[in-house]
Amino acid sequence: IKIVSEEKPLEGKKVLVTAGPTVESIDPVRYISNHSSGKMGYSIATVAKRLGADVTLITGPTCIEYPFFMDEIVSIKSAEEMYKAVLSKKDNYDILIMCAAVADYKPKVSAQQKIKKSAETLTIELEKNPDILETIGHSKKENQIVVGFAAETENIIENGYEKLVRKNADVIVANDARTAMGNDRNHVYIIFKNNSIVELEGTKEEIAKELLIKLCKVLQES
Ligand code: CTP
Ligand code: CA
Repeated sequence: IKIVSEEKPLEGKKVLVTAGPTVESIDPVRYISNHSSGKMGYSIATVAKRLGADVTLITGPTCIEYPFFMDEIVSIKSAEEMYKAVLSKKDNYDILIMCAAVADYKPKVSAQQKIKKSAETLTIELEKNPDILETIGHSKKENQIVVGFAAETENIIENGYEKLVRKNADVIVANDARTAMGNDRNHVYIIFKNNSIVELEGTKEEIAKELLIKLCKVLQES
C-alpha cells in the first residue's frame, strides 16, 4: 500500500465550526426546527482537523455521529445557546465557519407543561432569534476570517452576496436548501468579498476540502 500523507496547511490555526439545526422548544415535548442533518458542518470540521487545524465544533442536535479527533465539541439545542457559545469563544479563532441552520424564530414563550389540544386552531407567537453570523461579522478582529452559509431556494448567488454584505462576512457559501439539506452531496457557490465566485459540485467532504484550501489562501492574503 502506498500511503500518501496530505499536507497540513492549517497547522497552528484555530477553526470554529457551527453545524446542524437548532431546536426551539414549544413545550416539554415539542419544538420548531429544520431539516439540517449536520453533514456539511461535520465534514468541514473533520477536514479542517485533517488539514492540521485545532478544531472546535458547536453543534445542534443531529442524527449522525460526532466527527472524530475534535479538540472540543460543544453540544447545544437552541439558537440562543449557540449564540452564547459562539460569542464566548469567538476571539480565539483564526477562521469561524457558521454552517449551522439556525432557527430564525423561536416561540415567545416555551410552555412549562404540555399544551393540551382544545380549539380547532392554535397560534404560536414567535420572536426573532439573535443572528450569530451578523454579530461576529460586525465584531471580528483583524485577520479573523468569518464564513457564513446561505440557504436559498431562489436567486442563490444574489441572495448569498446580499448576506455577505449585510453580515460583513469574508466568504459566503451559497447553496440550494432544497437539495443541500440531508444530502451527502452538495452544489455550492463560494462567494468572496470582491464578488468572485467559485462553483463546486461534489460530496460534502470534497466541498469542505476545497473550501478550506480557499480559506487558507484568504488567510495568507489578509
Ligand atoms: N445565521 C445565524 N444566526 C441566525 C440565522 C442565521 O448565524 N439567527 C447564519 C447561518 O448560520 C448562516 C447564515 O447566517 O451562516 C445565513 O443563514 P440563512 O438562513 O441563509 O440567512 P438569514 O440571514 O437567516 O436569512 P433568510 O433565512 O431570511 O434567508
Ligand atoms: Ca434563516
